[in-house]
Amino acid sequence: MSVSPATVACLAAAGLIGAATLGFAPSGGSGAASRGSAEHHHILLLYTGEQRGHLEPCGCTQPQIGGLPRRASFLASLSHDPPSVIVDDGDMVEDPGRQSQLKAEMLASFYRGSGYAAVNVGEQDFQLGFGYLRALQAEAKVPFLCANVRLGDRPALAETASAAGVTLVGLVASSLASDIRRWNRMLAVEAPETSLARLEPVLRRAGPVVLLFHGGPAEARPLARRFPWLAAIVTAHEADDYRPEPIFEAGVPMVNAGRWGKVVGRLDVEPAGVRSMSPVTLGPEWPDAPSVRTLLSRYLARVNAEALLDQVPRLPDADDQLFAGSAACRSCHETTFETWQHSAHAHAYHALVTAGHDRDPDCVTCHVVGLCSQSGFRSLSGTPNLTDVGCESCHGAGASHARSPAAHSMPHVEESTCRRCHVAEQSPHFDFAPYWAKIRH
Ligand code: HEC
Ligand code: HEC
Ligand code: HEC
Ligand code: HEC
Repeated sequence: MSVSPATVACLAAAGLIGAATLGFAPSGGSGAASRGSAEHHHILLLYTGEQRGHLEPCGCTQPQIGGLPRRASFLASLSHDPPSVIVDDGDMVEDPGRQSQLKAEMLASFYRGSGYAAVNVGEQDFQLGFGYLRALQAEAKVPFLCANVRLGDRPALAETASAAGVTLVGLVASSLASDIRRWNRMLAVEAPETSLARLEPVLRRAGPVVLLFHGGPAEARPLARRFPWLAAIVTAHEADDYRPEPIFEAGVPMVNAGRWGKVVGRLDVEPAGVRSMSPVTLGPEWPDAPSVRTLLSRYLARVNAEALLDQVPRLPDADDQLFAGSAACRSCHETTFETWQHSAHAHAYHALVTAGHDRDPDCVTCHVVGLCSQSGFRSLSGTPNLTDVGCESCHGAGASHARSPAAHSMPHVEESTCRRCHVAEQSPHFDFAPYWAKIRH
């Protein structure tokens, strides 16, 4: 599937973007979402959210949890009784730009293939542009919810969806309204309570109603107090990895699945009430689903085919801040060079080649020298001396120093330099003293 800017332009020209709300029936077709009928009174609600472009673990450290291929295996393992309803609470991506579009398209295919009943749209997703989201929703055939983001007097996306007798309503927190408006001037963001009050008469006639709220518990609590008939609220933007226990407000359970898709949250929804079950952690015990592997390979092939690495924004370098490459340091720092050559840093790009991510801007930045500078890494063949984590990844650009060391000294390297790359996600065990001991020179 692809939604090109051209598609969006065509839809706009045809008057489809900005026209009436897309209608949708309770999701039919294949997948877990359709496993029930409106008569079911016992369902398993599965929730994810805040993927934020993390389609699978990067592999920088072992073990890592999460990833769409494992999630697909878990979802496929579910029994049909009780039927499951799968939802996502938004923030598919966290940057604007082409790579995020490719990720969103991959995710949309994933949601459809896995039988998601609805995706609540997060403020980050609005960076992709509302017209793009409309086109993406149309191709994905999964309702994108957001009842309080309005285009004129109409909802910009869908307000509600239903599956297996459960009604889903999506809202975004007021505190995120300014972001959405900044990226989409034509949209207005209504207060969530206003939207819920408007929908209340219809929702109260429905079966259990689950609110997908794209916002934190502080902003969700007043909604639970005013609308205590809600069966449950899924929240977003919580600092923790995920929250294992629900918070109760006015008897309404509020749950959260954390960031980056490491876990799948579970709620048992019965007429007697809602019971929160422990989230399922997506560790290596869940095998990769081949169909989702294929989706990911296709995504990566598009990243390569569109040469996104060649398009990363680069800062101009001052004349005395040009990169020379590690080989240029060798003649005067022979022993240091040899120490480095035998370190893991000198093979860092190779690790990406093996992983198939050597042209992925998401990865290359920490595995080479100066990706974001004009004179930095371009490609393996174009700038062979700037591949891998080289001397200048830590010491800074050194062409002037290499030409006349006396006139240009190199700055000292601090621990903070290491921590630009050795961040918690990629290097959770980083500790300066033992790490430096391994590469000391
Ligand atoms: C923020 C910087 C950063 C980003 C972004 C990053 N890496 Fe890494 N990567 C590291 C660091 C640091 C290590 C070493 C971690 C350690 O041993 O503590 C590493 C290690 C690795 C290793 C292990 C190498 C080996 O020989 O064992 C692989 C494989 C890898 N990264 C792949 C990737 C891929 C694929 C991506 C993109 C999806 C990526 N990296 C993105 C910083 C990064
Ligand atoms: C430009 C990004 C970057 C910077 C800056 C950086 N590293 Fe690394 N480091 C990496 C990557 C990527 C790897 C993984 C290389 C591989 O195994 O392929 C790595 C691996 C290592 C390893 C090997 C880990 C192991 O388990 O063997 C050590 C040790 C290390 N770094 C120490 C440091 C120290 C100390 C600093 C600061 C003085 C530092 N690094 C700065 C990116 C960086
Ligand atoms: C033409 C020889 C030459 C080349 C090439 C060279 N250096 Fe140096 N470097 C020196 C000399 C001489 C010193 C000063 C040594 C001293 O005072 O003990 C030095 C010192 C340093 C220092 C210590 C800080 C300082 O400025 O005193 C660092 C770090 C350094 N060089 C890194 C590099 C890096 C990185 C490269 C490659 C980009 C490089 N050097 C290329 C000759 C060279
Ligand atoms: C992973 C980061 C890292 C890499 C890669 C790296 N260095 Fe260093 N280097 C350091 C740190 C940290 C120090 C010690 C602190 C300091 O002196 O700035 C250091 C010290 C030095 C010194 C001694 C400075 C002094 O005053 O004694 C020289 C010379 C030097 N490095 C050159 C190089 C050269 C040449 C390369 C590549 C072949 C290289 N380094 C690769 C982090 C790095």
